[in-house]
Amino acid sequence: MIRVRFIGVDGVATDANGTEGQRLLDLARNTGQPLEGTCNGDLACATCHVIVAAQDAGRLPPPSAEEEDMLDFAPGATRTSRLSCQIILTAALDGLEVRVP
Ligand code: FES
Repeated sequence: MIRVRFIGVDGVATDANGTEGQRLLDLARNTGQPLEGTCNGDLACATCHVIVAAQDAGRLPPPSAEEEDMLDFAPGATRTSRLSCQIILTAALDGLEVRVP
């Protein structure tokens, strides 16, 4: 079990339990977060954009060049923005906190 805290658009925190190998996008959807993920992981939409808490950003593997390029199109992107379809949950990410922009 991998615990993830989502901070919603309204600022309300929702705690969710993910599983090893699950995409963060899928856990977010299961938890009712309003992430469209229109391209379903093909790095073609950026509607799965989340902002990783500053203290957790370094725990994630760095983004690929393709993810970086697509983040340029994400409204409100910050230095710790990521595409949730590219984040695979592992035990090392237990306790991750992300904000839904
Ligand atoms: Fe389209 Fe993540 S779902 S880039």
